[in-house]
Amino acid sequence: MSLIKSALTAAVLAATVMGSSAMVNNAYAGNVQDKIIVAHRGASAYLPEHTLESKALAYNMGVSYVEQDLAMTKDNRLVVVHDHYLDRVTDVADKFPKRARKDGRFYVIDFTLDEIRTLNFTEGFEIENGKRVQGYKDRFPIFKSTFRIHTLEEEIEFVQGLNKTMGKDIGLYVETKAPWFHKQEGKDISKATLEVLKKYGYTSKDSNVIFQTFDYPDLKYVKTELMPKMGMDLKTVMLLGYTDWKETYELKNGKWEVFDFNYLLDPKNFKEVSKYATGLGPTYEMLFDLKKTSKGKIVVNDFVKNAHANGMVVHPYTVRADKLPEYCTDVDQLFKAILIDADADGVFTDFPDLGTAFLQKQGKK
Ligand code: G3P
Ligand code: CA
Repeated sequence: MSLIKSALTAAVLAATVMGSSAMVNNAYAGNVQDKIIVAHRGASAYLPEHTLESKALAYNMGVSYVEQDLAMTKDNRLVVVHDHYLDRVTDVADKFPKRARKDGRFYVIDFTLDEIRTLNFTEGFEIENGKRVQGYKDRFPIFKSTFRIHTLEEEIEFVQGLNKTMGKDIGLYVETKAPWFHKQEGKDISKATLEVLKKYGYTSKDSNVIFQTFDYPDLKYVKTELMPKMGMDLKTVMLLGYTDWKETYELKNGKWEVFDFNYLLDPKNFKEVSKYATGLGPTYEMLFDLKKTSKGKIVVNDFVKNAHANGMVVHPYTVRADKLPEYCTDVDQLFKAILIDADADGVFTDFPDLGTAFLQKQGKK
């Protein structure tokens, strides 16, 4: 068989395996022009995560998407914040010292939006020996300048406003944080999120938004009940973690149990997962054969190939130039392993400038 004929046969076969809708909606990014950079919590390496300022900076770094992690307030508003706690990124412990729960955490869900707006939003920190210690010591200094937590609506208006003034079409990449926790508290964060997205015109797979979650039972609910009921059908990404992270809980026989991610990590189940997800969001190390990987030599596995064969794109998280894995010598080596060698369709990074520069070096316009 000639090379052209065998390539054509392979393309037809791939199209058959992937299904035509997957080809249309997912646009596999074998071509570097189609690969995307997602600004992880904005340009979070340079300005405090999830601030509008960090979104503006990321926007101007040439990304395809800016990310929004979401939690719900006591008065049912969606705020853009990574944790469903406030204590890592605000001065809540100073302003509302009596409002911690028994575990010592200050939960977003226990505060109204007006209360949250009074907090200073900062680069993340931990408490060590009674003192605030910055998580990433070379990043924006903690509690310097003034930043505030904002709502999903405010961020959408911000991005849409920039799209108008800058003449671009940058997308939203929204994550409902801990839907299982919100359910336990009597709130449906996914429904609230879809309502806001619908209000701003994001309704179909052609809309420039991706809905992501670590909560597989909730994704199924979103895909099979909520979106059909609301006349919506957005692109969806199932985020993959490890069971021992205890990222997700599910209700089993009336009891909340830790969700077991092993089912989702097994490529044999990708076909089933693809009924609900147009893409997968693994940690980038899930794309590597770590047993064969050594310093300076990253060996990839078939993760992306298996996802593509089941019609799903792959957007791994999170490249951090200031926190490279021990087997990496520089950040471009990591981008290359993820985007070129493993052939992922995009990547989340705290350093959007380095991500877009890497793709430009590969020839992306
Ligand atoms: O959503 C992709 C990536 O952001 C997942 O990690 O914990 O930063 O939300 P996390
Ligand atoms: Ca996220």
